[in-house]
Parts: sequence; C-alpha cells; structure tokens
Amino acid sequence: MTEQVIQIAGSKVHYIFDARFATLSRICGRKNTIIVTDETVFANHQEKFGRWQVIVLPAGEAHKQQATVDSLIAQLMAYGADRSTTLVGVGGGVVTDMVGYAAAVYLRGVSVGYVPTTLLAMVDAAIGGKNGVDVGVYKNLVGTIRQPAFLLFDTAFLQSLPLVEWENGFAEIIKHAAIRDKAMFRQLETSDVGIFQKNRKLLNQLIMRNALLKTKVVRKDPNEKGERRLLNFGHTLGHAIENEHGLMHGRAVAIGMVYAGHLSAQRRGFKDTLRLMDTIERYGLPTHVDIDMDKALLNIRMDKKKMRENINFVLLDAIGKAVVESIALRVVDKYFLQ
Ligand SMILES: NC(=O)c1ccc[n+]([C@@H]2O[C@H](COP(=O)([O-])OP(=O)(O)OC[C@H]3O[C@@H](n4cnc5c(N)ncnc54)[C@H](O)[C@@H]3O)[C@@H](O)[C@H]2O)c1
Repeated sequence: MTEQVIQIAGSKVHYIFDARFATLSRICGRKNTIIVTDETVFANHQEKFGRWQVIVLPAGEAHKQQATVDSLIAQLMAYGADRSTTLVGVGGGVVTDMVGYAAAVYLRGVSVGYVPTTLLAMVDAAIGGKNGVDVGVYKNLVGTIRQPAFLLFDTAFLQSLPLVEWENGFAEIIKHAAIRDKAMFRQLETSDVGIFQKNRKLLNQLIMRNALLKTKVVRKDPNEKGERRLLNFGHTLGHAIENEHGLMHGRAVAIGMVYAGHLSAQRRGFKDTLRLMDTIERYGLPTHVDIDMDKALLNIRMDKKKMRENINFVLLDAIGKAVVESIALRVVDKYFLQ
C-alpha cells in the first residue's frame, strides 16, 4: 500500500494505492458513511459490502442522468444522511461522476470519496474532480468540479472486469503516455493487456503512474484553461464519431488518436504515427473505421471545445510531448476530407 496526500486547487486529496477495500473502515466510520455503487459491481462483489450502508444504482451510461441523481438523493434522505455523512462512490466513471455530483449538491455539499472499479475510472474518471450527468444525449452537460477527500485503489475489483473494459482503460493509458510519458510508452510497446492482468505489482505501478500523471496535469490547471486540455488528445474526433458509429469511448478515442497522429505529422513533423498505431492495436483497440467525415466534421463543429472559427486540437511533437494548436475549422475540413 502506498499513500500520498496531494493538494489540488485548495483541497487535500488522500490517495491510497495498492490497497484493499477493507481499508475503507480505517478512513471512514460505518455509521456516517453511505456507499453508492451500481448493480453490476454489487452483483460481482457483494461480499465486500458486508455491513456497510449501501445504495445500488442501475448500471451504465444510459442512467447517468439527473433522474438517477434524484433517486439517489431520495434514498440519502431515507437514510437520514446529514452534513456529517460521507458518500463513497464504488464503481466505474458513471458511478463516480454521479456520486461526486450528488455529494456536491446534497445539503450544498457533503464529503465524498471514490473507490474506482474499472481501469478507466482508476486512471482517469475518478481523478481530477470533474463530476456530473448527461442531459439526454448531451454528455456531461451538467456538473461541478470538486475534489474527493480520498481515492482508494483496489485492483481486486478488476478481476470481474470484462476484457473490452480493460481495453477501454488502456486507450486512456496510451493517451497519457503519448502526451506526457515516453518511458511509459516504451513499456506499453513491449507489453499487452494479459501481462498486466497477470502481474498485480506491474498493474498497480501502472495505475499509480497514470493516476499521478493525470493529477499533475490537473493540479497545474484545475479549471481546464491550459494544460488540462492536453488530456483531450484523440477526443476531438473521438467524441465526434463515438455516437455516430456506436463505438465504445476508448475505441473512438483510439481512432481519434490515430487521426491526431496523422494531423501531427502534417503540421508538426511528428514521426511516430506508426508506433502509435502499433501500440493501439497491441491493446485490442481499432485504428480505423469507415468514417462519414461530413457528419464527423459537423459534430466537431458542434463540439463544446469549438471556439468561433478555430478549434483547439491536441497534437504531438513527439511521443511524450503534446501541444495544443488552434486550427481554423476550414483547415481541419480540408485535411480530413482529402
Ligand atoms: N470525471 C472525469 O474526469 C471523467 C473522465 C473520463 C470519463 N468520465 C466518465 O466516465 C464514464 C465512463 O467510465 P467507465 O468506463 O468506468 O464506465 P462505467 O461506470 O459505465 O463502467 C463500465 C461498465 O463496467 C461495469 N463495471 C464497473 N466495475 C466493474 C467491475 N469491477 N467488474 C465488472 N463490471 C464492472 C459497469 O457496471 C458498467 O457496466 C463516462 O460517463 C465518462 O463520461 C469522467
């Protein structure tokens, strides 16, 4: 177990890596704590929840809506949750996003901690304080930025995680390596999902490295005005094709990273698009889909990151070195449609 307390935008966040879920009782008392999880996590790990007070939400992105938060708030009231209550979100990014949001607004704010149970939530979603819900099809339209009091990482949860969800998480890990960590990129190039699944120590090191990498980026820019935008590498096109092609988020981001690689080659002389593609494929992720570019470009124009006639694209100068470039939308159109 490795513990660190990291200051992010005025809040102290307690990270507990390579931990066991049972450690939770050392951090918060059972009487003042309510665990919130989803049906899938609860079904797979029921024995871990023992005597804790637990609220179980329906699983999946389709339920990341205000109506679910309303039902959560009703259940908190039924439990008699007050200002001394700590909410603990135990689940993937859908759970941690919703529990963080509910904790921010219930009684104008109660304490929250996360136990992420997907690889993606461990390396990405649970880190950085963003929370919220979708509004209909519009992703993360409502929410707040508020840091949790603690993050507890127990890789035992990952034993029940389906392979596609591991791959989804690796898309964000490859993204982190591509933008900020060339040594980790080299490690990924010579490993695969199976190697990390079999080696708990290696997996815990990888999770810690990624959680701390994201934390470092967020610490410098908690409100996404500068450096935090680097985390959008692969996401501009990724978001634009995700719904259109019914792709899982990680798969859409993988394809988005390949396109961003090509664009980086053209605009910044980036030389390693093939290395990037090989690594993406190594982790079971796609590098190509037949994209309806007209539609994708329309979606990019609608993307909330659009600024007038320019769009902020994250490009690579080299593996481990990303930059944000503001590119005129007509140039993006011309590049992608050729
Ligand atoms: N707040 C942020 O900064 C941030 C960053 C990235 C993503 N996100 C959000 O995170 C969400 C995606 O996260 P996710 O991929 O973890 O999604 P998720 O929470 O929907 O989890 C994916 C699936 O895995 C199941 N699951 C979770 N843990 C499991 C386990 N241990 N064993 C078996 N099944 C398990 C879930 O029930 C779900 O069906 C999106 O809503 C996205 O917007 C937020």
